[in-house]
Amino acid sequence: MHDLRVAPSILSADFARLADEIADVAPAVSMIHVDVMDAHYVPNLTIGPPVVKSLRAATPLLLDAHLMITDPRTYAPQVVAAGADSVTFHPEVEDDPLGLVELLRDAGSQVGVAVRPHQPLSLVEELLPHVDMLLVMTVQPGFGGQAFMPEVLPKIAEAVRARQHLGADFRIQVDGGISAKTVGGTAAAGADTFVAGSAVFDQPDRPAAARQVLEAAFAALEVAGGEGAA
Ligand code: DX5
Ligand code: ZN
Repeated sequence: MHDLRVAPSILSADFARLADEIADVAPAVSMIHVDVMDAHYVPNLTIGPPVVKSLRAATPLLLDAHLMITDPRTYAPQVVAAGADSVTFHPEVEDDPLGLVELLRDAGSQVGVAVRPHQPLSLVEELLPHVDMLLVMTVQPGFGGQAFMPEVLPKIAEAVRARQHLGADFRIQVDGGISAKTVGGTAAAGADTFVAGSAVFDQPDRPAAARQVLEAAFAALEVAGGEGAA
């Protein structure tokens, strides 16, 4: 079983004060989620390797980059070189996703692959033995502050079964609409890594907000008897 982690998404932070925003939440977390968007894969445009480089200099926390871009082959290595600890990409835009996974691992990065809410797990099945993390999107990628999609929950449980079947060890990350109210269902289903943007950065006390999400995840696991994350 993986340890449970909350990864605040800086998409909901003040982009003019990112170092301060991360320092604010740092006492409560070990990982920061960085959403890279190119205005092609999703209809939004955010940040890229130069900002990751600046973040790397500003924090010792794990930097977890989520690439919502059509050309991860070109930019994922740049994000790794800029200092990201983990890079997750959406594999359907890549001709040779396994090759890209291996390239990024050789570059020293942890690697994740992502599935959108309506994409089946079969899309990434062949990659699962080779990745460190599966990102199960619980909203359509592109924007913070959207409503959690509970219909995705069975896919988390399916991922747990696939992990057992494959003898694999990847983390299961959920991203989108995660809060103290919604995280429980995902933890009970088997998710261990919880991205939370607005539920952390839109709150006055960010460390308290991050801890509330984590505590709600633990509470749901206790109720579920812990079998979901086994
Ligand atoms: C959305 C991004 C998320 C976003 C989540 O496409 O991938 O990481 O920041 O924001 P909330 O937690 O507000 O839904
Ligand atoms: Zn994300």
